[in-house]
Amino acid sequence: MCGIVGYIGTQQAAPLLLEGLTRLEHRGYDSAGVAVLGGSGIKVAKKAGRVRDLTEGLPKRFTGQVGIGHTRWATHGPANDANAHPHTDEAQRVAVVHNGIIDNAAALRQQLTDDGVELTSDTDTEVLAHLVARSGADTLEGKVRDALAAIEGTYGVAVLHADFPDRIVVARNGSPLIIGVGEKEMHVASDLAALVRYTTTVAHLDDGELATLTAGGFTTYRQDLSTTHKLAEHVDVDPASYDAGEHDSFMHKEMQEQPAAADRVLRGRLDERFGTARLGGLNMDARETRAIRRVKILGCGSAYYVGQMGAALIEELARIPADAEAASEFRYRNPIIEPDTLYVAVSQSGETLDTLLAVQEIRRKGGRVIGLVNVVGSAIARECDGGIYLHAGPEVAVASTKALTNMFIGFSLLALQLGRVRDLSIADGKRLIAGLTRLPDQIQAILDREDELAEVARTLADAESLFFVGRVRGFPVAREGAQKFKEISYRHAEAYQTSELKHGPLALISEEVPTVALVPSDELTDRNVGALHEIAARGGPLVVITHEDVDLGDVAALRIDVPRNERELDPILLTVPLQLLAYHAALHLGHDIDKPRNLAKSVTVE
Ligand code: F6R
Repeated sequence: MCGIVGYIGTQQAAPLLLEGLTRLEHRGYDSAGVAVLGGSGIKVAKKAGRVRDLTEGLPKRFTGQVGIGHTRWATHGPANDANAHPHTDEAQRVAVVHNGIIDNAAALRQQLTDDGVELTSDTDTEVLAHLVARSGADTLEGKVRDALAAIEGTYGVAVLHADFPDRIVVARNGSPLIIGVGEKEMHVASDLAALVRYTTTVAHLDDGELATLTAGGFTTYRQDLSTTHKLAEHVDVDPASYDAGEHDSFMHKEMQEQPAAADRVLRGRLDERFGTARLGGLNMDARETRAIRRVKILGCGSAYYVGQMGAALIEELARIPADAEAASEFRYRNPIIEPDTLYVAVSQSGETLDTLLAVQEIRRKGGRVIGLVNVVGSAIARECDGGIYLHAGPEVAVASTKALTNMFIGFSLLALQLGRVRDLSIADGKRLIAGLTRLPDQIQAILDREDELAEVARTLADAESLFFVGRVRGFPVAREGAQKFKEISYRHAEAYQTSELKHGPLALISEEVPTVALVPSDELTDRNVGALHEIAARGGPLVVITHEDVDLGDVAALRIDVPRNERELDPILLTVPLQLLAYHAALHLGHDIDKPRNLAKSVTVE
């Protein structure tokens, strides 16, 4: 959420900053800005809209070999030119870009106004620029330290000062910052995506850490200015994984990558001999694993819905009571933390603040938390006692697809391991391993039917409102399907338990309100088919995601058959066509698939 870039070196900063911002645009895209520091001091260009609007409007002589940039997702004040970052002091000697939220901004704004400062934006960030400018310290490091000491809240921040043209000072508290080391030049960014084209030698700042970047290197230190001796390390990433390549969007690319990603999350983790999973990263021995009496899964949005799928897997396979809860709600109900409960945080980015705060609340109360996280070394991954990395590769599209699939597989592995130290038989363990091994090809088989799904999607795209329905294992699938559909098509899509339709929502069924129904071949098929009749009898158009052997009788429906796996693993195969339906509906409606309105990848605010 919001993106930061910075550059200091021997090249012109502006083109590099703009290129970096384009790579970060998925993190916030309602306004963007850059500041460069050259012979004539600090110059700022900022604008509501996309990075391309900023680039087009950039003044001709926008020169300087030091600079910072930002792409914004509005929190304080609407998306307009004045609220875009960088923010400056009145004399424009200081420029600041900031991710996060300053909690005491209102009080600080008041103090500054009382002191006669004329604030020019509605943002919390602007106070930082004034505080840096007003500090009496004689170094930039000291000035930034003084400013940070006055604020409460979260930040990733980068500061330029005209009196110190040979440096950028950056600081982190809750919002990621990564330093990239180049040849006689240094970069900084809030996400690896903006760095990998220039360097793969990086240093991640920790919370509470600051750094000074000069063209020749960097130093890191704490708020009391004592050094932290951080060293840069090589990261093994393929810059191509941050390009959409031949695909029209990252979402399309990432959906297509699912078979390979699924293969990666399974690699080395299946123990065929004992019919179990090998999850060394959990840091728990068999005795500790057996002592678990309950599992509580925490995540947000799609990660929460896949958490519900995971809870069902754990209950079925390990017979341990399990449930999922929205991490954003968890800590506000003063949760009881039990020593024999295993808490599981699930997150693609590993940065989602609501999930991170839930993890911290659990650990503060002495609970054990493991993470199912995609981004290696991210805040949630580091905060957990152990975990399962998802190995989905970088996910750029706001709508999560391949990470979500790998979360489901991660939960399957966890359920298998928990089950096999309890009552799950070796035969059942082997049955599930065989099922997991089949998944990548089966996902591919669904992706291969994209044209057919695109046609079905077009029949849904024009409906103002839709239902997604499923039962038991199918209900979280319906929730995820509705989420994906609404977030990129902007249609109202509501998920319901099929069994609950007759208790109210049937009143809304009409020819204008289609229903996407999940009807797997399982113990509830007959009841699900019964509900389809009730919808059809009221004229409701139906799209049914089902299995070949399911007899829908004379129900008029567009039918999509997905491959069957073991019934416990079927939910993920029912989910994949829903991604394609959402994608093609949004494409048909002409929406920006990767940057849906009002949203951003990685929600790092509460
Ligand atoms: C939906 C989506 C969001 C995220 C949610 C959690 O497609 O992308 O609902 O799933 O914001 O994000 P992570 O997984 O990064 O914690």
